[in-house]
Parts: sequence; structure tokens; C-alpha cells
Amino acid sequence: MKMAVIYHSVTGNTKNMGEQIVKGMNSVEGVEAKSFPIEDVDVEFVKEAKCVVFGSPIYAAHITGQMMNYLLAEAGKLGLAGKLAGAYTTAQYVHGGGELGIREMLDHCMVMGALTYSGGGAHGKPVIHLGPVGIDNTLDINEFAENFVIYGARMAAKAVELFS
Ligand SMILES: Cc1cc2nc3c(=O)[nH]c(=O)nc-3n(C[C@H](O)[C@H](O)[C@H](O)COP(=O)(O)O)c2cc1C
Repeated sequence: MKMAVIYHSVTGNTKNMGEQIVKGMNSVEGVEAKSFPIEDVDVEFVKEAKCVVFGSPIYAAHITGQMMNYLLAEAGKLGLAGKLAGAYTTAQYVHGGGELGIREMLDHCMVMGALTYSGGGAHGKPVIHLGPVGIDNTLDINEFAENFVIYGARMAAKAVELFS
């Protein structure tokens, strides 16, 4: 089952965490997951995917203008209706708007007819309410990698449960 992570990244943090999600997705049997920058998305692969996760850095407590433009101009070509969708962000501060950015992307996925999911508290710790946020300020962003791997595995397991 194909799954995709689509991200915007300028300095590498969001790309890095997207790759951790892919690692978690690919740990689930039968899953072929890939990540794509918004500048180079394999649309045919994503159209076949059952689960799509969007990732953005946080700029001024929002997703980036580039990610919003991508969602508005290009995401309609991905066939998101009926797919399982999720979102993640990276930010500099715990209070910098990470979850607000996740909400922006999840809202857009719902508008496109996708089924949004994270796992929330249903799997115990780490509890990931809306989606994972990686922080690059006083902490090394790689301190958050395990949460992203776990999130990827949870998203993939739910997609396999729903669509196999
Ligand atoms: C123009 C600009 C605005 C930013 N605004 C915020 C912000 O509002 N809150 C926050 O926590 N981090 C903010 N950041 C930090 C980035 O979200 C953070 O470094 C992110 O991990 C960068 O992702 P990337 O390495 O994938 O490009 C901002 C960075 C830039 C360049």
C-alpha cells in the first residue's frame, strides 16, 4: 500500500522529520512510503497512496506561504478524497504555533474530503494529539525523531486497517 509525505522545507528540519515519518510508515508490513518536497511531487504515486501526510515549517505562527499556495493550487490534483490524511510541523519554539499549523493543514485536508487522523491518545505514550511538532531551538530537532517514527507507524497501521 502506497503512502506519501509531502513537505515544504528551507533549512532541512521539516524534510528530516518527514523522512522519520516515512521510516515509521515503512516499518508496517506491506507499506511502500515515500516523501516528496512540494517542488517535486510524484503526483501519480500520491494519487495511488491511501495515506498522505503534509509537513510545514511554522512562519509567524502559520504554515509557510509556499505550503499554503501548494495546498490551494496543487493538492486538488492528488485525489485526497477518502484518503487518510495527517499533518506535522517544525518550529523554533514550543509556543511558536506548531499545532496551529497542523490544524491549518488538517482543515484543508478535510475540505478536500480526506479522513484526518493522528492516533491521539489512543495508543498511550507518546500521546500525539493532532500531529507531531519538532522544535529546533534549545533542543536538537533529532531529539524529536522517535515521535515522528512512531506517528508514521500509527498512521500507516490505521490506513492498512481501513483500506486493506
Ligand atoms: C521567516 C521565519 C519565520 C518563522 N516563524 C516562526 C514562528 O512563528 N514560530 C516558531 O516557532 N518558529 C518560527 N520560525 C522557525 C522555523 O519554523 C523553524 O526553524 C523550522 O524548523 C524551519 O523548518 P525547515 O528547516 O524545514 O525550513 C520561523 C523561521 C523563519 C525563517
